[in-house]
Amino acid sequence: MKKVHKDTEAIHTGYTSGQHHDSLAVPLYQTSTFTFDTAEQGARRFAGEEEGGIYSRLGNPTVRVLEERMTALEKGAGTLAFGSGMAAVSTILTHLTKSGDHIVCSRGIYGCTFGLLGIMEEKYAISHTLTAMRTEEEIEAAVTPETVCLYIESPINPTTELVDLRAAAAVAERHGLKVVVDNTFASPYLQNPIEFGADFVLHSATKYINGHGDVIAGLLTGRNEEDIQQIRGTVQKDYGGIISPFDAWLLIRGLKTLPLRMQRHTENAGKLTEFLKSQDMVEDIFYPFDDLNPQADLARQQMTAGGGLVSFTIKGGQPTAQLFMNQLKLIKIAVSLGDAETLIQHPATMTHSGVPEQERVLMGIGDGLLRLSAGLEDADDLIADLSQAFRAASACEQVN
Ligand SMILES: Cc1ncc(COP(=O)(O)O)c(C=O)c1O
Repeated sequence: MKKVHKDTEAIHTGYTSGQHHDSLAVPLYQTSTFTFDTAEQGARRFAGEEEGGIYSRLGNPTVRVLEERMTALEKGAGTLAFGSGMAAVSTILTHLTKSGDHIVCSRGIYGCTFGLLGIMEEKYAISHTLTAMRTEEEIEAAVTPETVCLYIESPINPTTELVDLRAAAAVAERHGLKVVVDNTFASPYLQNPIEFGADFVLHSATKYINGHGDVIAGLLTGRNEEDIQQIRGTVQKDYGGIISPFDAWLLIRGLKTLPLRMQRHTENAGKLTEFLKSQDMVEDIFYPFDDLNPQADLARQQMTAGGGLVSFTIKGGQPTAQLFMNQLKLIKIAVSLGDAETLIQHPATMTHSGVPEQERVLMGIGDGLLRLSAGLEDADDLIADLSQAFRAASACEQVN
């Protein structure tokens, strides 16, 4: 397809209806295996020939459309789809490392990625260093002769802090390291890490890419097609964490509205940020495009908009934070993000409960921190819900 805008790519790339009985929607190939013809059937292809489908763990036409569309949106050269975001994380880290190697990692990372790094260290002697990655020097200081890759989340879950992707790529180039970026919080609509020098970009597609809270999936896009084909034929094939054709089909459907959804998520998050700033019970607020955010300039350099995640700290720590959350009526208390519904969660006891307290504090996850994923509802209704919850929580505190 001729080069078009992202909004158009999200709807068209990877599929033309003429190839598939003129079906407008991408057909769902819900099959585990593909047949080979016998000589009597005209032998379109013989067993042993690679052309066409073989087995859905090795490739599936519905999944291929998703992979091609994602490659275009992430400005990469190839994509692999997985049964979860964690399958994408574990596949790329397994691909890049061997026993004795070392990974330099952004200090803030998703709780299960932190857990995986612990498993890799304990079972396979693959060590890691978590560092704030605030400057090129800080990243460089963590690199050892054994380091093979930089693993980065930006924006970081749950604090929405950023890592300067250009600075990370400069360090990686000097030391011959691969750069992996978890782009889940931004989505490919708002940020393309490959443009800033990343080698691999991954997503928990469970979040914005699907957008409807009904799929668990992951995607990994590479700057080089050979790398992706190598992973397809090795770690992905043999570890086997592939996506189901039906989930791929749902993601293709979700992607069509990604641009529109990201615009609305961003608009709502901006309005909620302004509202939260006016609340006495709120101590700190973190939103990439907030003018008071010290990283706002960096955010504007590497993202086209601030996205749907806002984190804030409630005065009074965990008891007040939980008291406040429990007063909400429209906003749902749940892990995950990027859905149509606005979700709130308490990272210290939910998404990051597996991270030891000392490390959690270093990650900026205090006991009063809440993470809000702005949904697609009318912002006035969300503000009304937050407002009544602040009033109710404050009344409860005064009684106690
Ligand atoms: C930033 C980030 N990366 C990776 C994951 C893992 O994705 P999944 O839950 O789809 O396995 C999550 C899940 O919340 C996440 O927030």
